[in-house]
Amino acid sequence: MRTALDPPSSVVRPPSSTPGFGIYVHWPFCRSKCPYCDFNSHVRERVDHARWRSALIAELDHYAASTGGRMVTSVFFGGGTPSLMEPQTVAAVIDRVSRHWRVARDVEITLEANPNSVEQPRFAAFRAAGVNRLSLGVQALDDASLQALGRGHSAAEARAAIARAATTFDRFSFDLIYARPGQSLEAWEKELRAALALAGDHLSVYQLTIEPGTAFAARHARGELVLPAEQDAAELYELTQVVLDDAGLPAYEISNHARPGGECRHNLAYWRYEDYVGIGPGAHGRLTLDGAKTATRQEKAPETWLAAVERAGHASAEQRAIAPSEAAEEALMMGLRLSEGIDPHRFARRTSTPLDAALGAAALARLIDGGFIVHRRDGALAATPAGRRVLNAVLVELMA
Ligand SMILES: C[S@@+](CC[C@H](N)C(=O)[O-])C[C@H]1O[C@@H](n2cnc3c(N)ncnc32)[C@H](O)[C@@H]1O
Ligand code: SF4
Repeated sequence: MRTALDPPSSVVRPPSSTPGFGIYVHWPFCRSKCPYCDFNSHVRERVDHARWRSALIAELDHYAASTGGRMVTSVFFGGGTPSLMEPQTVAAVIDRVSRHWRVARDVEITLEANPNSVEQPRFAAFRAAGVNRLSLGVQALDDASLQALGRGHSAAEARAAIARAATTFDRFSFDLIYARPGQSLEAWEKELRAALALAGDHLSVYQLTIEPGTAFAARHARGELVLPAEQDAAELYELTQVVLDDAGLPAYEISNHARPGGECRHNLAYWRYEDYVGIGPGAHGRLTLDGAKTATRQEKAPETWLAAVERAGHASAEQRAIAPSEAAEEALMMGLRLSEGIDPHRFARRTSTPLDAALGAAALARLIDGGFIVHRRDGALAATPAGRRVLNAVLVELMA
């Protein structure tokens, strides 16, 4: 079987100035629903893998019709839990991508995986299918915290999954959740250092958020789940920056840390406001079509999505041109998440709006004075680490 690592003749290396073009594939199923999670993820007793495989391929065919000339620089299998996909499905999607589009020689193909021991034997098959980067949802490195987070795996399983990922894939990353109830600075520092001893070139470190509609939201509302106070959460964030900076994995985005060159290229494409196709239930896409930035969105509910694809060849619920003012807002919200900030030339090209015109001059001056925003020496506009921590408030002021 041919894989993306044994590519067809259409595979070429993109010039470094070529913007990224990603393909996102959403797999909406999980073994169980974690109490903090509001992703489009569902528990089903049975999944008809052959039907799902055909439907994902049909949506690729649909989007290839309008974007076929582009060069794919990344593919991302996200979820839900894509490590529950049959490796055959992952292989079929990757194969179809390489038939429809040119594929960059150094294409990044990431799959999100749960560290459950039952899924680990599949890692080699995902690698053989063409996946070259694994992203593991570890969340915590001790059993009590994993239990409190409602995870279905132990710390030992998480460590075993990390070890297997390190030997199976070219690159791997894992996710941790911090600012958990009762977490002290000392305990978090110890856990971060333990994580660093296991890490490759990338770590995602998310502050626990209470999402509406989740089991945690209900417990939080009843006062049964108490998060660290704002000041304590800020100290946990600062500590994260210091420890990971010192270890050579600085933040390149609010929650994402990498050694230089180890950044997730697929996610960088989102934050740089580059184009990507989104297929699968609830997937979003941003595509430049006929010169206009276009938003796409697929049907969200898994069964509705599947029925629509089987009926019409795709489950596109929305495809609309984005006005330049809205594109500018989106690009600002995305770009200020990155430590590299926003390159004004790229911004103007991708949004048809000059960066200056998208910002309130007085607010910008105030935010620069306050140490939340800087003009970098390379000409980019960036949020400082302090600005990134309170980015929503910064954006409200900047765009008012
Ligand atoms: C799609 S999941 C990752 C893969 C897989 N489903 C798993 O959980 O192992 C994406 C990540 O988002 C993070 N996440 C989800 N909900 C969160 C929340 N409410 N607060 C903080 N992080 C969250 C978790 O770290 C999770 O690993
Ligand atoms: S955190 Fe991951 S495993 Fe848990 S419900 Fe969300 S997507 Fe599924």
